[in-house]
Amino acid sequence: MPTASEPGPQHVGTLWLLDLSEPSLIGPIPRVEVIFQLVGSEAIPLIADAMGLGSSEEVFKRLDAGKRCYIGNVNGVLATYGWVTFDKELIGELRLHIQLSPGEAYIWDCATLLEYRGLRLYPSLLWYIIGELRSQGLKRIWIGADADNIPSQVGMRLCGFHPIADFVQDYTLGLHSYWIRGHAGASEQHVEDARSAILGGRHKAGLAALSSVNPDSTTSLF
Ligand SMILES: CC(C)(COP(=O)(O)OP(=O)(O)OC[C@H]1O[C@@H](n2cnc3c(N)ncnc32)[C@H](O)[C@@H]1OP(=O)(O)O)[C@@H](O)C(=O)NCCC(=O)NCCS
Repeated sequence: MPTASEPGPQHVGTLWLLDLSEPSLIGPIPRVEVIFQLVGSEAIPLIADAMGLGSSEEVFKRLDAGKRCYIGNVNGVLATYGWVTFDKELIGELRLHIQLSPGEAYIWDCATLLEYRGLRLYPSLLWYIIGELRSQGLKRIWIGADADNIPSQVGMRLCGFHPIADFVQDYTLGLHSYWIRGHAGASEQHVEDARSAILGGRHKAGLAALSSVNPDSTTSLF
């Protein structure tokens, strides 16, 4: 029986996927006029300011590493932003990396400034990024959301993303561990792809160890 300090397994977040070969939906419509664009080094101070950073160093590092930043301007003000990575990215709060395959991208660290929230800027930004990546020949886009972040999940659904893999955190006997669990309704192949992106080759060893204990197990431990 879990105690207050050991709450037992908790669903902390989910990895979502958009397969760009699926037919395109009608995208979300922003409730205010907004101009989206990909920005580069010229916008470093502006992005750092919008992100609430004390210095431009982190933004410089990200752009220098080939990560992209997309923004949405409302009346000339940077109101919403999001980052895109094509190789490997840290899923911050989980302290795990996602390793992208060729043709894949990962959207992360998106936000809408407080005074511009509720205007559908975030889903519209996602939609703009999706269009850009599709036209550049990308095949799949991954994105993550905390389990309790409903505004983010609503935006992702509006853009056609599907939940694939849930991250479950457990805290037992003073030790933290994470599990990846297939989200209800997700295809086995997509769940396997999510595990592979997060765990690399390690998930196969984990699954083999689990299946020798429980042949019906579909959960990966790390
Ligand atoms: C998640 C987030 C990006 C959504 O941005 P957004 O541009 O406000 O997105 P939306 O306008 O589509 O809002 C989504 C829902 O949130 C609700 N909402 C959230 N904040 C609101 C606010 N201040 N005023 C009104 N509605 C708000 C609305 O109900 C809206 O649903 P609706 O379109 O059906 O009315 C924004 O809340 C945010 O920046 N959060 C902090 C960072 C974060 O969580 N990022 C996650 C993505 S990586």
